[in-house]
This record gives sequence, C-alpha cells and structure tokens, in this order.
Amino acid sequence: MPSLTRRTLLGSGAATLASTFLSGSAIARAAGLADVGSAAASVAPRERLLLDFGWKFFQGHSSDPSRDLGFGAGQGDFAKSGSFDFATEKFDDSKWRSLNLPHDWAVELPFVHDEAQEGHGYKPLGRRYPETSVGWYRRLIDIPESDRGRRVTVEFDGAFRDALVFLNGFFIGRNDNGYAPFSFDLTDLINPGAKNVLVVRLDASFGDGWFYEGAGIYRHVWLTKTDSLHLGRWESYVRTEIVHAAGKDNSATLGLGTIVQNEGRQAEVCRVRWQILDAAGKQVATADTALQTVAGGGAANFTATATFANPALWSLETPTLYSAIVTVETSGKARDAEQVRFGVRSISFDVDKGFFLNGKSVKVKGTCNHQDHAGVGAALPDRLQWFRLAVLKEMGSNAVRTSHNMPTPEWVEACDRMGMMMLCETRMMDSNPEGLAQLELMIKRYRNSPAIILWSMGNEEWPLQSTEHGEHVVATMVARSHALDPTRLCTAATTAPFANSVAKSLDVEGFNYTLKDIDAYHTAHPHQPAIGTETASTVSTRGIYTTDKLRNWVSAYDLNHTEWSEIAEDWWSFYAARPWLAGGFAWTGFDYRGEPTPYGWPSINSQFGIVDMCGFPKDNYFYYKAWWGTEPVLHLFPHWNWEDRIGEIVPVWVHSNLDEVELFLNGKSLGSQKVSPLGHLEWKVRYEAGVIEARGSKGGKVLLTERRETTGKAATIKLTVDRAEIDADGEDVAVLRVEVLDAAGRSVPTADNQISFKISGEGALIGVGNGDPNCQESDKEPKRSLFNGLAQVIVQATKNPGTIVVEAYTEEWPGPKLSSTTLRIATKAVVPRPSA
Ligand code: GAL
Repeated sequence: MPSLTRRTLLGSGAATLASTFLSGSAIARAAGLADVGSAAASVAPRERLLLDFGWKFFQGHSSDPSRDLGFGAGQGDFAKSGSFDFATEKFDDSKWRSLNLPHDWAVELPFVHDEAQEGHGYKPLGRRYPETSVGWYRRLIDIPESDRGRRVTVEFDGAFRDALVFLNGFFIGRNDNGYAPFSFDLTDLINPGAKNVLVVRLDASFGDGWFYEGAGIYRHVWLTKTDSLHLGRWESYVRTEIVHAAGKDNSATLGLGTIVQNEGRQAEVCRVRWQILDAAGKQVATADTALQTVAGGGAANFTATATFANPALWSLETPTLYSAIVTVETSGKARDAEQVRFGVRSISFDVDKGFFLNGKSVKVKGTCNHQDHAGVGAALPDRLQWFRLAVLKEMGSNAVRTSHNMPTPEWVEACDRMGMMMLCETRMMDSNPEGLAQLELMIKRYRNSPAIILWSMGNEEWPLQSTEHGEHVVATMVARSHALDPTRLCTAATTAPFANSVAKSLDVEGFNYTLKDIDAYHTAHPHQPAIGTETASTVSTRGIYTTDKLRNWVSAYDLNHTEWSEIAEDWWSFYAARPWLAGGFAWTGFDYRGEPTPYGWPSINSQFGIVDMCGFPKDNYFYYKAWWGTEPVLHLFPHWNWEDRIGEIVPVWVHSNLDEVELFLNGKSLGSQKVSPLGHLEWKVRYEAGVIEARGSKGGKVLLTERRETTGKAATIKLTVDRAEIDADGEDVAVLRVEVLDAAGRSVPTADNQISFKISGEGALIGVGNGDPNCQESDKEPKRSLFNGLAQVIVQATKNPGTIVVEAYTEEWPGPKLSSTTLRIATKAVVPRPSA
C-alpha cells in the first residue's frame, strides 16, 4: 500500500458464516455453566440491586445555564451542598425522556463533518458542541423504612464523563474519567420510607481517547445495601496455587484475604469465613479466621488459607470456575457476605519459550478491541459481550486486549466463562493520584478473574516513553500492581524504538508493530519475556474486492495496511516463527467507530477489524481461523457477481489449512495448488458468470468444498436470529442477520436494498447496523440499507414472557419492492435480576 500519514489519510460478501450468529459451541458451553457469581455478587444479608430501569434523560447545555436546568447561572451553585432543586421530588421531569440503562447518547447524534471530530467518529461532542455534550439522568428510588440503619451505596460501573452526582437536593460527589467505576455512600442523605431522587449530570466535553468513546451512563448502575459492618469494596481476593505432589492428586492452595470495615461507632469483634464452592455449588473447602476487633470507624485485614484436592483447572477448553462466599460474622451471625468468582490455573512467561497456561505452552492468538458495537455504541447489553466473544472464539482466537481502558465487568465475566484470556489495560499511564487510583480499581476489581493473564500499564504514551520520567512512572505503577496482585506480571504497549525508558520498568516487554526491530530488542534483552501487545492494523472493507479511494473502500484481500503496520499473513508468520514471543494481539478484532482509517470522512468507523462493526467476518477472518483454529478450513473469495468484469482477470483466493486445493470454474479445473503453512492460495481467473468452486483435500481425500455462484436479483428478504428464545428480563437481546435472496433462494452478496423493520410484541429495537464504514444512516431508526448483502438488527426483550415479532419489508421507495418476511422470537419467563 502506498505510504500514508498516520491517523490522517493512511491512506465474501460471501464471507458470511453461520457460526457468527448461531449460538456457537462456545456460547452453548458457557451458558451451561452453573452460576458462580459475578465479580462480587451479593449474598444475604447484603442486597445488590440493579438500578438500570426507569430513568429520565434530558440533554443539557455545557455553556448556557438557561438550557442546563439553570446550573451554573450565578456561579454559586456549590455555595450550599443541599440546594440542588433538580434533585428533589418537587422538580418536574415530566418532559424528560424515559429510558433504561445502559445508554449512550452519542450514538443517537447525527454525524458532523468536522475534522477535529474524526477520532471520535464525527459525533458532535466537545466544547464546540455545547448543546449535545451534556446529559442529565434522573431516577426516583424507593428506599423502604426497613433500610434505616443500613449503609446504602450507589455504584456506577462507568459513565462518560465528568460525572456530578446529587441525591435528595444534595451534592454527593464527582468522578471525571470515563472508564473506571465509582461509588458513593448515600447513607447520611437517604430518606428511608420515602422517595429518593438521584441525579447524574455528565459532561462529555472532554475525552480520553482518539477513538469513539460514547457519552452517558453506558454501564450498569447498582444500589448496594449492607450492614454498617461490611466487607470493603473489591477487597476480597483469592490467590490460587496448584500444588503437585509426587504420586498424589494435585491440590489447590488458596491465599484468601479481605478487609472488613466498621462504619458503626462501637468496636465489633468479628471473624471472616470463606466457603469455597465448585461450579456445581458443592462446598469443597472452608476457612475461618481468628476473631479480631475492628474499631468503630475503622477497618481491619483478615487473611486465611484453604486447600482442596484435585482442582478442576480453568483452561481455554474447559473454563471451570469456582467461587468463594466470603462472610463476616459476629457471634455466629452473618453481618455481610459476597460471592467472588475465581478459577484455579497457573500462568507463566518464559524468556525462551513464551507463555504457559497450566504448564502447557500456549501461543497468545489475540485481538485488541474497543468497546462499541453497531446500533448501540458504547452501551452494550451484557449479552452482546458474549456474542462478540463467540465471534472471536470461533475464529480460533484465545485472547483479547482491553484497549485502551479498563473493561466493563461483563466483558471480563464473559471471558472467564467462555475461556478467553485477557490483557487488561488501564487508561491513564501515570503515577499521579488519578493514574494510580484507576490502576488500583482495575486490579482490585478484576484480580480474581482467571481470564486475566497480564496487566497493561497503558498504551503508546509517547510523552513518557523515552524520558527518564517514563521509567519512574511505570516503575511506580508496576510496584503498585505487584503489591495488589503478586500473581501477575505487568507490561505496556510500547512503540519503536523498543529499547525505551518505559520498557526498562516492565516485567514483560510489549511490542506495538515494527516487526523489523523486534529481534534486535530480544538479542539485547534476552532475559525479558515479550509479547506483541499490538500488531496488524491491516485494513479491509467487508465484501469489497477492489480498492476504490473515491468510495473509501479497501479491498478485502490481505494486502493493505498502514505505513506502521502489517498484513495478517506477515505479522502472524513472524510471531509464529519465534517461540520466545508469547504471541500477539491483532489490531483489531472488531471494527470500531472513530479512527476512520484509511480514508477519513465520509467514513465514520475504522477498517482495521477482522470483522466489521456488526461482527460479520471479513475474509481475513478465515486466514486466522485456518491458522489459529483447530478445525479444517476452506474459504473461497471473492463472490461471483461481477457482471461488469466479464472477460477480465479476477484474483481468486483461498484461505485453507488443508493439504491441497483444486479450483473449478463452471466445472472446468483451473488447477490444484499445495497449501503452504501460514500462507494463502491465489488463482488469476478470467471471469465468466456461473459457479466458482474450490475442493480442498487432506491426505488425498476431498474434505471440504466451497462454491460461489453468480446470483440473480434480490427477490425476498431473509431474517435469521442468533437465538430463537431469549430471556424476558428486560435486558436480554437477540441479534438478527438480514439478507436478501434471489428467486433461487441464494443470498445476494452485493445487495444494498434498504430494509425497514417493524417490531411488535414483547420486545423493542435497540439498534441497527450493516458494517459499512461509510454508512451515515441512523443506528436507531427501524430501517437500514444492506451493505454487501448484510445488515444487523438488535432487539431487546421486555420483562413479559411472550413473543417478539420482527417484520422486515421494503418501502415503495427506494425500490425495488421485495417479498417481506416475519420472524418470531420467544421470550421466556425468568426471574429478573433484583432491581431497585
Ligand atoms: C496504534 C494505537 C491504536 C490505534 C492503532 C491504529 O498505534 O495504539 O489505538 O490507533 O495505532 O493503527
């Protein structure tokens, strides 16, 4: 690809596979797992209530107080902490919009052609867009009289950004970054036995990223109620060690710890008990501490150890989970308890042999990912985390990097349950109070998750990378990480020259790109393990086979990359050949909004993804599947609808891990080729309409056949859903694939028909997409054009069991009219999560 400047201008259809949206073995396996608690699920007497439903929303204004509830009009707003009328019951919010969380208002905004907004996907956010940068959220909460005397805390898993929180007319607190969780103890200001009013003002004028970040309360909110003697938030840890004894079964030794806080005035004499449960809920060990006095207003550490025989290890194939019920007791009475999920597994990095999981060498086959998806922006229902991971797992990938911020808890949980490893990254590389606070929150929150194999101190922090400050800052961060979690090593994503000051402080060197400099670094630093924190940045448009700069399309053959990066075949061949490299993370698994590389406007999302914004695979998906996965793969492209290229040469590629592939055009052999490991096959074919077919053989026998047929015009619409039945819990979603078929029932890979949707029954549409990096249609309206034959619709269940009816049809204009179709999704009765 011609050399292009970084971040500015860098610039089959047939590739759709059922597994992308059938549940997939990975999800089925994970769904079958017993409930072993979320990171810190509540156990009685603690209550943890979801606070996602029944919010009101109002778009404020960041510079005009008259359009911002009068906030800031007289510059004296904070003169008294309890004078915020908008957070009292008498305030009239009847004109505010009703919505449920998670919510991202950025994805609802139109696009603006403003180059300053390129990184964030051309959304009108920031100080120059005061009318769309502030959002107010308001929620009435019933607190029963029986809660008098309990500690009541509101917990935000993350909100974008600069949150100000108010309760019952009082200012409660603020949180500025957009990714770390935050919480406030509301106890002193609640009204037991009455309505309480919680208000959150968010201001997305500032951002953290050079990528789309969304805006709003885009993660869950919780109301937690505890005794005044309670476990500290995310203080409970379970450190596991596998003990191998000759001639005996293995056993697991658990290092257990927590902090008990006493918010009462009297000292309390208490002890902590751990009950260790296996995945089926059977108790396999217990541990009790001695009694300890915790002073009124004080806190104390409690530690213990436990052992049990024959642990079922957490692995990629069988991600077995355990849980610990941690209870603080006084005089035999449980005062607080929580359930902590963990796994038993060993991890290590070897300077010569790379990464080991449970003593077995495992190459990290990873992708980096941001956190947005088609239709919903940054506000992903939990189920979409599973959907996205299944797409990557089906590709043979075994790891994700949470670039460039700490992830949402449900992403970590999905990795724990599905058997995906994680490189978990903090947003701010800094040892200032904010940087260390973010790091500490990330580690405390997720240190019990077996999926996490390494912490990342940040990404490409150029102002620090080559200065002495960088060495000190990262050394401080690494020391803090080790203190909080002695079981994991630390890396950071760095750029060449790799022998920089940040690298000096890392346990594991993290290479971003620049393959040519990696060997020299290893030779000079043979005692430091290493991993490819970021590689690839290959660019391609799904279903496009000729690069067209006027249309912002990049061909999907594995040929194009930015000037600092690599095609899939090159980076993986490089990493695969070096056992001392633990593996790497391709930039990126999914396309994401913002960074519209390689072209810029009117592109609104990146083209780095191995799959598009919806999760529809591009052709490189099958390169990775062939060389990362374990199943036989034969993938043939491009599609065979080239009526304007009759008689011209069309490159035909095959990604396959079989021995040999023979290609046929309309029944005539075009020759056989042997597959070379980590490569691809190519034939130059003079195009004629009909059927192109690949027959792949192994051991002399044809094992797989793939064909692409020239189709007729679109005649009918087809809908397919990832699950025919979902939970009626107000949260679960079904993901629908939309395509059109010709009269012979063949999917038309080049179709761009605009399809409309009508959703009725027990569900609602929450977003649409098509994976087109240049499509500026609304993510929220009930219609979407197909892009190279595909679109996606996401519908969410209500809390009433029944049926969601999705009708797909074409309007009179733009034509042509196609036969419509209707699909029904059952929603089954479940006990919804306890809500406030
Ligand atoms: C990297 C950066 C990523 C993304 C990528 C695009 O340098 O870490 O966030 O910008 O480049 O190639």
